[in-house]
Amino acid sequence: MPKATPHPRRIFISTALPYANGAFHIGHVMEYIQADIWVRHVRLQLTDADQLFFVGADDTHGAPIMLKAEAEGITPQALVARIAATRPKCLNGFLISFDHWHSTDSPENVELSCDIYKKLKAHGLIYPKTIEQFYDPIKGMFLPDRYIKGECPKCGAKDQYGDACEHCSTVYNATELINPYSTLSGAAPVLKTSEHFFFKLSDPQCLAFLHEWTQHHRLQSEVSNKIREWLGEEGGESRLIDWDISRDAPYFGIEIPDAPGKYFYVWLDAPIGYLASLKARLAQDGVALADFLRDPGIEQYHFIGKDIIYFHTLFWPAMLKFAGEPYHVPDNVFVHGFITFSGEKMSKSRGTGISPELYLDLGLNPEWLRYYLAAKLNDRVEDLDFNPDDFIARVNSDLIGKYINIASRTATFIKKYFNNRLGQHFAALPIAQETLQQANAIAALYDKRQFSAAVRQIMELADKMNAYWDQQAPWTLAKRFDALDDNERAALHDTCSVALEVFRLLTLYLKPILPKLAGEAEHFLSIAPLNWRNAAAALKAGHAINDYAHLMTRIDPKQHIDRLLEAQALPAPAVKSSAAAPAATPSASTSSAQTPAIITIDDFAKVDLRVAQILHAEIVEGSDKLLKLTLDLGEEKPRTVFAGIRSAYAPEQLIGRFTVAIANLAPRKMKFGVSEGMALAASGETPGIYLLQPDNGAQAGMKIK
Ligand code: 2FM
Ligand code: ZN
Repeated sequence: MPKATPHPRRIFISTALPYANGAFHIGHVMEYIQADIWVRHVRLQLTDADQLFFVGADDTHGAPIMLKAEAEGITPQALVARIAATRPKCLNGFLISFDHWHSTDSPENVELSCDIYKKLKAHGLIYPKTIEQFYDPIKGMFLPDRYIKGECPKCGAKDQYGDACEHCSTVYNATELINPYSTLSGAAPVLKTSEHFFFKLSDPQCLAFLHEWTQHHRLQSEVSNKIREWLGEEGGESRLIDWDISRDAPYFGIEIPDAPGKYFYVWLDAPIGYLASLKARLAQDGVALADFLRDPGIEQYHFIGKDIIYFHTLFWPAMLKFAGEPYHVPDNVFVHGFITFSGEKMSKSRGTGISPELYLDLGLNPEWLRYYLAAKLNDRVEDLDFNPDDFIARVNSDLIGKYINIASRTATFIKKYFNNRLGQHFAALPIAQETLQQANAIAALYDKRQFSAAVRQIMELADKMNAYWDQQAPWTLAKRFDALDDNERAALHDTCSVALEVFRLLTLYLKPILPKLAGEAEHFLSIAPLNWRNAAAALKAGHAINDYAHLMTRIDPKQHIDRLLEAQALPAPAVKSSAAAPAATPSASTSSAQTPAIITIDDFAKVDLRVAQILHAEIVEGSDKLLKLTLDLGEEKPRTVFAGIRSAYAPEQLIGRFTVAIANLAPRKMKFGVSEGMALAASGETPGIYLLQPDNGAQAGMKIK
């Protein structure tokens, strides 16, 4: 561990909190896997007296979640609850060992946010200031920049966002846009004043503290360089600007004490959510958060992505420092880069990328991904590239071809010739000793989060073992087994046994990465759970093992990867069908990445679009994507349509609503029945599916043209 540690250890580790407005993407899963490997490694060092809590939570507040819920006609709480219900599948699926998953929309977070705010205020670090901001007179709310568009003041490009022009890259204030409009209502925004609260980050005491914090903690060099850029030279003028921490109603957030109608900006209460999650977990043991935090030896670490360094290395430590007792400033912030796909940014609309949910749905082994990511992760703030061929090679050739191979090739001999019992003198053989000697070095690499280097060393040890096996060629002795003398028999027995002793050690070394496989290997070897403290306890002479059961299958490029990538490449233009139909035809999936070709009005006329009323909606047993809709298209009989919108809508929300359907689509036989049309919904780069809805007054069966 990075610092001299008093006993017992009290460790608190978090991952960044995902916004509760969509499913996890692969970037979240990569961070959870990185943190989980480290957490599992640390746990393998701990004694019963130590405590480690690994926590996460949903980041629930802010304008986007409020507006999404409003668009769906539900409360933000209902939206957040629906997303929360989807979390366990992915977290359990990828074997992420959180001790607790919480929500920033929780009583614990309200209490802690108010407490920290009040303490900062008492410390003189909060002040009010009146600011002028764009306001949407139709929506009745102040507009965050992302909801304002207009013409670029420099080049005149239309439909540019409120902060920068995508056309000429000029950076400006939203108030400089020409003909600005609100993307929420289309209205021209008006400037309006309002009182906001600010956190005085520019205060000299904040600056002095942050300089000290940066120096005394072992931050990654990329991170401390960034902070130095932001802070400026020590003793120089503060370059930090004060932080606007309040938002006006309507806002989904925590109301500020003694300031009705004012809410904490989501980024104030989000990191406090780490503590809220810890508090909720500790409460299960009857322990108060303050008592846990007051322990002087506590260690607090946060895993985050490179895009949120500012929040976690300036605001967050300063908030905790000046809120004072019982809060503890982070001991470190572990920053990772983004994940790319074959060298490109992952993009849903271009059909590149990996959906974690689909990965699990297709039955791909989560430990393949854990191993692959570990083999590429290090302690730098670097992007990590997922390359399908590399993925297949590393899992099949290295993990299975080298490590699993040791057990599978040995097991046959041990069973056939020695009735699953080990020999007498194998543990002292040099190959076992050499493998054991690497334990500390490998543990040290895990400590430093240099997982790729750890995996490399482990695979080198596996290579050595396989070379030893080949050099011993036990099959030559085995061929004349009945004719062997005692010495020869013992030699064969020890070769097989030492292979399993090396396999035991390699299993320990890989255990943080492959926890499930390690459990199965421990069962095969018939040993107690491995940890860093019992590494030297070699398999005993004469020890009986269990029959070998297949430990891991290889990745089949066709069965696994092609399906994963094909299914990824769903057509995803701005408006797409909500039924899964187009993905089934090869032409649709190959053309998916491109913009659709221009069509004539006659082409368009071929599509019979109708207003449909949803008479009934129900869940489809056995499918977590589909809902079964009964649609009235103004015909004699209603139609049945399967729509892939289950992630976005509960059936009861849909009944009675109007939508748009294709009436002349050839019926399609699906696993769950025949779909007699298609309901239309919009989706884009960000998660979320939005069913189309005609304006009030439209009747079922009306033609859309
Ligand atoms: O960037 C994000 O996705 C934020 N929801 C991360 C919050 S991390 C912490 F502060 F809660
Ligand atoms: Zn411009």
